[in-house]
Amino acid sequence: MENFFSIRTVTWEGGAVRMIDQTALPIKLMYVRYTRPEQIADAIRTMVVRGAPAIGVAAAMGLALAAVHSKMTRLPDFMKEMQSTAALLRSTRPTAVNLFWGIDRVMKRAASASTVREAKEAASAEVKAMEDEDVEVNRKLGRIGADLISDGDTVLTQCNAGALATVGYGTALGVVRAAVEQGKLVKVLVPETRPALQGARLTAFELVRDRIACTLLSDTAVGYMMSQGRVDCAIVGADRITKDGFVFNKIGTYQEAVLAKRHGVPFYPAAPRSTFDLSRTHEGVTIEERGAEEVVEIRGKRIAPKGIPVANPAFDMTPPELVTAVITDRGLVRPPLVENIARLIA
Ligand code: MRU
Repeated sequence: MENFFSIRTVTWEGGAVRMIDQTALPIKLMYVRYTRPEQIADAIRTMVVRGAPAIGVAAAMGLALAAVHSKMTRLPDFMKEMQSTAALLRSTRPTAVNLFWGIDRVMKRAASASTVREAKEAASAEVKAMEDEDVEVNRKLGRIGADLISDGDTVLTQCNAGALATVGYGTALGVVRAAVEQGKLVKVLVPETRPALQGARLTAFELVRDRIACTLLSDTAVGYMMSQGRVDCAIVGADRITKDGFVFNKIGTYQEAVLAKRHGVPFYPAAPRSTFDLSRTHEGVTIEERGAEEVVEIRGKRIAPKGIPVANPAFDMTPPELVTAVITDRGLVRPPLVENIARLIA
């Protein structure tokens, strides 16, 4: 089906980056265009662009903007400027490893150049390639994961791991799209995903637009739906998968995995190679803590008393024993996850 959410979330336009402003969705589908890396850093921080693969590509493009607009003429000065922009972009959000992967990829390409001009061209070519690769990889991952879905299945997800969280097509929702492309009837249960409501705002927007059957749930309805036999499998995205098999994803994913185990529902994270962090175990990962306003307000309207202390972890971690298999572009990674991550992903 060619018409599936075919617009790109992030695009490289040479000296500028164009992206969907995800804070305006689902009310308005509007684009912003940035020419400075500081604007990209702000966009990542404020979630104009969000989702692990999308922020990886956006950060890489932020660095490529620094490269193509640099006034430096000597390579060492140029690289120094690149390093300071890379540090700014790295400081935006700590949990999704794709952000660091994207920045490192551009730095490496630029560092292998022997002139400033060559470095600028290399950075620009690299981010264009990353943009295209992201969609290809998601399509591949989608085809691999689609075999796990049977005709008539109901799939529970979390947050938005769709086209909007990537350059296009999506990871968890890419699996759903691929299953629908195979002619299967699939229904998606969409938890609203408090506090930033990526489920209600973004996943619902994509699925409604693509005419894929879906039902919106409050986050608190997930356990009940499973207990009633109304979920065939759970497919979620990931922000980082460490070498010891822990899956970091949007807050609420861990409780979904625990409930899935309790009710015999298969639990599948879906993620490309760039989401794996083979240099760390789970203890080394920082879970982003976001501002209290996301919890005490809903879309600018206060819902809790003034002065209430707030905890707002944006991600959680699911241990490997709760994972049925990880769907990747290199195939299914089944338990034992630690051994099979080392074998298939390294
Ligand atoms: O805070 P967000 O919206 O950036 O979090 C996004 C998620 O947790 C997604 O599930 C994850 O990045 C996977 S996206 C393909």
